[in-house]
Amino acid sequence: MKQMNSYIDSVFSNEDDLLEEVVSSISGAKHVLEIGALGGDSGICLARGFGKEGTLTSLELKKEYAELAHSNLTKAGFGGQVTYMTGAALQSLEQLVKSDKRFDFFFIDADKGNYEQYLTHCIELAKPGAVIVADNVLAGGSVADQKAAPRRHTEVMRTFNKTVAQHPQLESLLIPIGDGMTVSKVKK
Ligand SMILES: C[S@@+](CC[C@H](N)C(=O)[O-])C[C@H]1O[C@@H](n2cnc3c(N)ncnc32)[C@H](O)[C@@H]1O
Repeated sequence: MKQMNSYIDSVFSNEDDLLEEVVSSISGAKHVLEIGALGGDSGICLARGFGKEGTLTSLELKKEYAELAHSNLTKAGFGGQVTYMTGAALQSLEQLVKSDKRFDFFFIDADKGNYEQYLTHCIELAKPGAVIVADNVLAGGSVADQKAAPRRHTEVMRTFNKTVAQHPQLESLLIPIGDGMTVSKVKK
């Protein structure tokens, strides 16, 4: 297993960031919701995936990160297509659910302890057939290693992965590039 992950990482190490772009572009998404902006790297990848006609709504706890991400998206030519909502993502998600906004692609990449709740809200906000991607689901590979000392997010991610795999409203797979991503399609 470790050997397999090392092989994939060695061959695809430069493609890790590209994955969001590739998956959002393949899915044809135009209205994307991201949870966790930081410096805007994933936001730029997602925007490259949807091109000139799409929009990105990005939820970020810290105002300074939202400002940094916005400045980087502006430099990349997408400043006018992104909206940042600052503060705890769970509150922003509740506001979005009430506002009747709907999205066709989601990228979950914030605090791991809330992934299950983020997933539930993303499903509520999803158009039929929408795609939900969650990052870091392998927790450094520790989810698969029963003998290794658990890392900080090992159990959280094991539980999250089971939820995703067994969710009646989702069809899902796990891509083991980098720290692993689940990719789920919301059933129509
Ligand atoms: C791993 S970083 C995101 C990286 C970014 N998606 C990228 O790939 O470029 C996680 C981000 O989630 C934000 N975050 C953490 N807890 C959060 C919360 N409760 N609500 C919203 N954002 C949160 C952090 O401030 C941080 O910017």
